[in-house]
Amino acid sequence: MIRRDFLKRVGLVATGVALSDPITKAETAINLSGSAAAAPQQPKSDIHVKIRSPKPQTDKPITVVIIGAGNRGRMYSRYSKTFNDHIKVVGVSDIIESRCNNIADLHNVPQENRFGHFREVFERPKMADAVIIATPDDRHYEPCIKAMELGYHVLLEKPAAPTEKECKDILKVSQDKNRIVAISHVLRYSPYFIAMKSVVDSGAVGELVSIQHMEPIQYAHMAHSYVRGNWRCEKDTTPIILAKSCHDLDIIRWIVGKPCKSISAYGSLHLFKKENMPAGAPPRCTDGCPHESTCPYSAIDIYVKQKRHLGVFDLKDRKDENEIMEKLRTNWYGRCVYQCDNDQPDHYVANMEFEDGVTSSFTMDAFSPWGGRRTRIMGTMGFIEGNGSTFTLWDFKTRTPKTWRMVIDDAEEYKDAGHGGGDYGLVRDFVEAVAFEDPGKLSSSIKDSIESHVMGFAAEKSRKSNHKAEVKA
Ligand SMILES: NC(=O)c1ccc[n+]([C@@H]2O[C@H](COP(=O)([O-])OP(=O)(O)OC[C@H]3O[C@@H](n4cnc5c(N)ncnc54)[C@H](O)[C@@H]3O)[C@@H](O)[C@H]2O)c1
Repeated sequence: MIRRDFLKRVGLVATGVALSDPITKAETAINLSGSAAAAPQQPKSDIHVKIRSPKPQTDKPITVVIIGAGNRGRMYSRYSKTFNDHIKVVGVSDIIESRCNNIADLHNVPQENRFGHFREVFERPKMADAVIIATPDDRHYEPCIKAMELGYHVLLEKPAAPTEKECKDILKVSQDKNRIVAISHVLRYSPYFIAMKSVVDSGAVGELVSIQHMEPIQYAHMAHSYVRGNWRCEKDTTPIILAKSCHDLDIIRWIVGKPCKSISAYGSLHLFKKENMPAGAPPRCTDGCPHESTCPYSAIDIYVKQKRHLGVFDLKDRKDENEIMEKLRTNWYGRCVYQCDNDQPDHYVANMEFEDGVTSSFTMDAFSPWGGRRTRIMGTMGFIEGNGSTFTLWDFKTRTPKTWRMVIDDAEEYKDAGHGGGDYGLVRDFVEAVAFEDPGKLSSSIKDSIESHVMGFAAEKSRKSNHKAEVKA
């Protein structure tokens, strides 16, 4: 996408200007002077980048079927409920009936449009404008291809598919059939990264030379998702560089604005394996483990005491500690982190070279106290450093740092939107893309999204072969 189109989409124009309005150079300028008034409830920001409301600019709703009514499916449902003049849920599919019904009831979906396995949806003639696919990683490819063949546009959860070949198939079918496919690379749609990209594109750092980017997973999150939980085995899902970090590769590629040529990657599973198990630890934290009170990965501490990550438990009452303990005695999440069937690396480094010699180093690490991406951007005239919610620009000439800040939760319409508002920004753009049959409304074409997936597969090739891998998108 050319820079002008990007600036236009992200709304570097006066509030209320329709997407199709022509923009002038003056309108697209980023105000780095600090003179524009910040929204009253927001802390002062020195850098002002207009952020669009998550409400689509459409005058009639598109219709969708949600496939996969788990954590992500619930987010799509919540968005649709909030902006129901713009998107209507007309069907739901989940192999867990209660999950299907929870969303279907909220949207008054008739019984005949409540499905179990996604294949049931596709036994029926096309019944909506689009499907939203929010099933586990290894169940994206089949419904996505089937949906496109039947004429649906698709909002597809990341990672698109577990193999490079399947990812490229999805791209090909979408091009052959002329379907809109949006990949849920939500960071691109978050005000924080939109603002960061806008500042880089404005030339404020001069010529971009290099990016350091880190994804600190946070130790309890690592244990929950990649040791005990859904994404613990590469062969059942996708390699962690895609399962967790296809967002990051996509963001790096997006900010650089040039294709990646090659990658060298390193990483392994250091901690969460049997040989590191403390003596006498039983298979479950709930079986009277002698190390429970000192182990930072204790399931009792994470789920019962801290009440983290409970969305996957289908609890009747999140405050009922007995109910949580009962679940931990039998589900995956009660297991000792040293005695699971996991194989995903807990630390991963990838160095990349892009066209024109631009370089980037990426680090994904389990062992951090917090999450939230950290990014440093080095340009010939300036430097940006961000912590996932605010970032500061240093101009080498003026030597005056300027900071971008926005408290997303204080922006009324972004309330409850995950990923720093990116979840809702993504759905807004998808609704507009489908309503206007214009894939250009999306921040990322399916081609760009698959290109950043190919970077992930190349990283894995490099990590496993101990050689630099070429990126052939
Ligand atoms: N975009 C993001 O930032 C982001 C964040 C988290 C997860 N994800 C991705 O979203 C997808 C879903 O993740 P989640 O956290 O919602 O998982 P989840 O387990 O909470 O939900 C998946 C749902 O799919 C259902 N399902 C499984 N097989 C099915 C089938 N054959 N037919 C119909 N339904 C079926 C499951 O019963 C479950 O309710 C995954 O691919 C994940 O990697 C993306």
